[in-house]
Amino acid sequence: MNPQTTDILDTFGRPLKSLRLSVTDRCNLRCKYCMPEEEYAWLPRETLLSFEEMCALTELFTELGVDKVRLTGGEPLLRKDLSTLIRMLLENPRIKDLALTTNGILLAEQAEGFHAAGLHRVTVSLDTLKPKRFTALTRRDGHDKVLAGIDAVARLGFRSLKLDTVAMRGFNDDELADLIEYGKGVGAEVRFIEYMDVGGATDWSMDKVFSRAAILERLSQRYGPIEPIMELSSAPAQRFVLPDGTTFGIIPSTTAPFCAACDRSRLTGDGMWYLCLYAKDGLDLRGPLRAGSPAERIKALIRSVWQGRQDRGAEERKELEQVGARGKLIGVDKLREDPHLEMHARGG
Ligand code: GTP
Ligand code: 5AD
Ligand code: SF4
Repeated sequence: MNPQTTDILDTFGRPLKSLRLSVTDRCNLRCKYCMPEEEYAWLPRETLLSFEEMCALTELFTELGVDKVRLTGGEPLLRKDLSTLIRMLLENPRIKDLALTTNGILLAEQAEGFHAAGLHRVTVSLDTLKPKRFTALTRRDGHDKVLAGIDAVARLGFRSLKLDTVAMRGFNDDELADLIEYGKGVGAEVRFIEYMDVGGATDWSMDKVFSRAAILERLSQRYGPIEPIMELSSAPAQRFVLPDGTTFGIIPSTTAPFCAACDRSRLTGDGMWYLCLYAKDGLDLRGPLRAGSPAERIKALIRSVWQGRQDRGAEERKELEQVGARGKLIGVDKLREDPHLEMHARGG
C-alpha cells in the first residue's frame, strides 16, 4: 500500500483502490465453506444492476482512485454475456487490472470470449484434485469441467492464472503438495486460503481451519525449506518459494489478517457497497443511481463514506479468540432475512 497524494484515504490511511463487483449472487455449486445450507434467499432479480449501471458506478469509483476491478459472484459466469460486461468495463482506461474469480464449471466454454474481450487475469477455485471429494465438498458434479476450464485459460495465455484452494483440516490438507504440482503443470500459482468465519460459513469452527503454520509445516515435510518472498503489496496472499523455485501463496485471513493494508471494497449485484467482507451494513448506490442523482453527488457520498471507514473485520474476529468467543459470524435466520450478509452475495 503506497498511497499517492491524489488517493482518498480512510481513517487508517488506506486508499480506495480495488473494487470487487459481484455480478450475481447465484451459484451452481454449494461449497461447504460458503453455501452449506439447503435453502437460500436470493436477491430479487429486478434489483440486479444492468451492465450499464455497473459500468456507470465503476466509472465513479475509478474517478475516485480505483484502478483494480475483480468480477466475482456467486458464480459470475452464470450472468449472461459476461464478455460484454468485460468489454464495456475495459472502455474505461482507468481500469489497469481486470480480473475474474470463478469456480470454473462454465469456464471451458466461455474462456475464449473473455480473452477476446480483453480480460487480464483469471483465478479459479480448486480445492481438490479428486472428483469424489469435489462432489462431497460442492454437492454437485463437474470436477472434470473445472479442470477443462483451467486448461482452456492456461492455453489462451492471460496475464495470470491463479488457483485458490481453501485449506480445510481433515478434508484436503493431504493434497496441498499435489495441488502445487498440478499448478506447475498448467503454469498457475496456487494460493492456500485459510477457512474464514465469514457470513454464510455456517459450518465454520476453528478446528477445521488449516492454518498458515500448518500449511508451511506440511509442505516443508515434502519439499524441504520454504522461503518467504519479501514484497510490499496490498494483496492478501503472502508468497513463498520452494527449493526448486516454484512459488505459491498463503492467504492467512483467519490467523494473520491483512486488514492494515486492505484497499478493497465490494459492490453486490444489486448495488449495495460494502467496505469490508465482514461488514454488517452497506451503502445503497442503486437507489441514487436509479433516481438520477448527479454523478458528482454520488461521488461525494462514496468519498465521504470511504474517508470514515474504520473496518478491520478480520482483525476484530481474531481478537474474539482472546476471550474465547470466536464462532460463526451470523446465524442462518439473520442470513435469510438479509442475503447481503452472505459471502456469496458480496464476492469471494
Ligand atoms: P489479486 O491480488 O488481485 O490477484 O487478488 P487477491 O490476491 O486479492 O486474491 P482474491 O481477490 O482472489 O482473493 C482471494 C481470497 O482471499 C478470496 O477468495 C477470499 O477467500 C480472500 N479474501 C478476498 N478478499 C478479502 C478481504 O477483503 N478480506 C479478507 N479477510 N479476505 C479476503
Ligand atoms: N473461507 C475462505 N474462503 C472462502 N471463500 C468463500 N467462502 C470462504 C470461506 N469461508 C472464497 C474461496 C473461494 C472463493 C470463491 O471464495 O477462495 O475460492
Ligand atoms: Fe479488508 Fe475487512 Fe477483509 Fe480486513 S476483513 S481485509 S478490512 S475486507
